[in-house]
Amino acid sequence: MSSTLKLGILGSGKGSNFRAIADAIAAGTLDAEVRVVASDIEDAGILTLARERGYRAEYIAPGRFKTKLEPEDEARLAAMLRDAGVELVVLAGYMRMIKPPLLDAFPSRIINIHPSLLPAFPGLESWRQAVEAKATRSGCTVHFVDAGMDTGKIIAQAEVPVLPDDTAATLHARIQVEEHRLYPEVLRRIAAGEVT
Ligand code: GRF
Repeated sequence: MSSTLKLGILGSGKGSNFRAIADAIAAGTLDAEVRVVASDIEDAGILTLARERGYRAEYIAPGRFKTKLEPEDEARLAAMLRDAGVELVVLAGYMRMIKPPLLDAFPSRIINIHPSLLPAFPGLESWRQAVEAKATRSGCTVHFVDAGMDTGKIIAQAEVPVLPDDTAATLHARIQVEEHRLYPEVLRRIAAGEVT
């Protein structure tokens, strides 16, 4: 049996982290396979990108809430991911909290990338929070997902400086360069069984 790590990717945005992961797989530097890409935003860039690359792309019904899925929709998502053979759920700019239907279907098998050095600046627009707090350093964190907001066990971090003339946008761009390096690297370590 192949040991290739089967991924399910969830995202709500442009999908640059998904692109970095797909590029690493295509380059042969990451032994993984993207089984499905799903988004709660129908016209999200990440779905367009997935289709362009020939991956299965699924739209998830967004339901009544902004910050979480309806329990039955999340249960359907969990079933879809399991049916697709997904072993690891990779959040790549997915903007909703993960609740028990998905958490319980993939215990300790959901990871996220967050644009700050957690536990600093959890929540939304962390790059803006860092600039407004006049932090001198920030970065990104890959962590396991638990029921909290950006609270799960940290797997790896990468640091960048916050420069005196940074805007939220320039800092986010600098952080994203590190994200695109760090996320495939962490997936390599998970695929190699080095992260538990
Ligand atoms: C990234 O900055 C990530 O850290 C955060 O959302 C953003 C997603 O960007 N969780 P992209 O859609 O991967 O370009």
